[in-house]
Order: sequence, then C-alpha cells, then structure tokens
Amino acid sequence: MSKTLILLFHRHPAKSKANAALAKAAATVPGVEVVDVQSEYPDGRIDFEADGRREAERLLTADRIVLQFPIQWYSTPPLLKAWQDAVLTRMYYIFAETEGDKLKGTPLMIAATAGNLPGAYTRGGQNHFTVDEIFTPLKATAYRCGLPWHEPYLVFEADRLAPDQLDQAAHGYAATLERFIATTTAERKAA
Ligand SMILES: Cc1cc2nc3c(=O)[nH]c(=O)nc-3n(C[C@H](O)[C@H](O)[C@H](O)COP(=O)(O)O)c2cc1C
Repeated sequence: MSKTLILLFHRHPAKSKANAALAKAAATVPGVEVVDVQSEYPDGRIDFEADGRREAERLLTADRIVLQFPIQWYSTPPLLKAWQDAVLTRMYYIFAETEGDKLKGTPLMIAATAGNLPGAYTRGGQNHFTVDEIFTPLKATAYRCGLPWHEPYLVFEADRLAPDQLDQAAHGYAATLERFIATTTAERKAA
C-alpha cells in the first residue's frame, strides 16, 4: 500500500480542537501516517544534520506529503518554517543529488485551519488577500522542490465550530485525503 505522510505543525497539539479533530480523522484513512512534528522538536529547533537526515529519510518513504497547520498571521507556524529551513535546505541545496532530486515528483497538499471566515479572505474582506495568495511562498517552495501542488483543504472559523461542524470538517478531510490518494502517484526519478 502507498504511504501518505501528514506532517502536523501545531504549537500545542493537546490544546488544539480543529487540527486535533482533522488529524484523528486522517489517521483512520488507510495508508496515512500522521506525525506530530512539535512533539519531536519541543524546543522548536531542527538541525539540518541528524534531524534533517531523519526527516529526509521519512519524506523519501512517502508517496504523498501533506503539510497540516493552523494559519498564523497570514502565514505558517514558526515550526514549519524551521522545518523548511533545515530539511528542505539540506535536501535541495546540500544533498540535492541524493535527497532532493529523489523527492521530486511527490504530490504535496496543504491542509490548513483559519480562525476567520471565508469572506475575510476576499478583496472586500478584512484580510484583503485570498488564502491562495497567502500560500504563494508555499506554492513557490513546492515549485522549486518539484512537488506537484494539490488543491488545499481549508477549514475556516476553526475556533468557533460546533461539534457537528467539526465532525463534518474532519470527515471532509478524510474524504479529501482518500481522493488525493486515489488520484495522485509519486512520479519520481529512478534511483
Ligand atoms: C498567533 C496566532 C495567529 C493567528 N493568525 C491567524 C490569521 O492570520 N488568520 C486566521 O484566520 N486565523 C488566525 N489565527 C487563528 C488560528 O488559525 C486558529 O486558532 C486555528 O486554526 C485553530 O485551530 P486549532 O483548534 O487546531 O488550534 C491565529 C492564531 C494564533 C494563535
């Protein structure tokens, strides 16, 4: 069975409602592995040597990658940035031939939660910019790393969802992952 690796970047997973519910539903999908990255790096520091090697090995065992996180200040949590700085720098600038080039062709999906309403992320709304625009640095990263971009899964008003809405969001995530798995394959260069 193919493997879909979900890397969850949340500062306090134990306090999370939305991301915790999504991660729980995702873990029921066959072939999905959810990793709570914060628990592996409690101080938020990731080095590109031992940590980077372990992360690279983990990525290279995956057929698809999902980066899951709450939107923070129109961006990603600092831990995801630390992960990119250590792991992707290592893979694509230091060990491109043995690591980065091998990851190319692995489909990438973003799953993100936002506190605000969908309408806030419009030209006339509070945030002016769309989520798609806010994700430009992630799209640029995916492009540079050769990771085919998949339509993101988004949950809005994540702090205000009633239990049935949270359930719906979690089931929607599981269904989206099933489609992601059914419709994508890693097209990597032969080793
Ligand atoms: C430091 C910080 C910054 C945030 N910035 C944003 C933001 O820019 N846009 C937004 O819609 N929500 C923002 N939020 C709300 C979070 O996205 C929301 O609390 C989270 O998605 C809820 O998921 P959880 O239950 O897994 O923590 C922010 C929250 C925090 C703590």
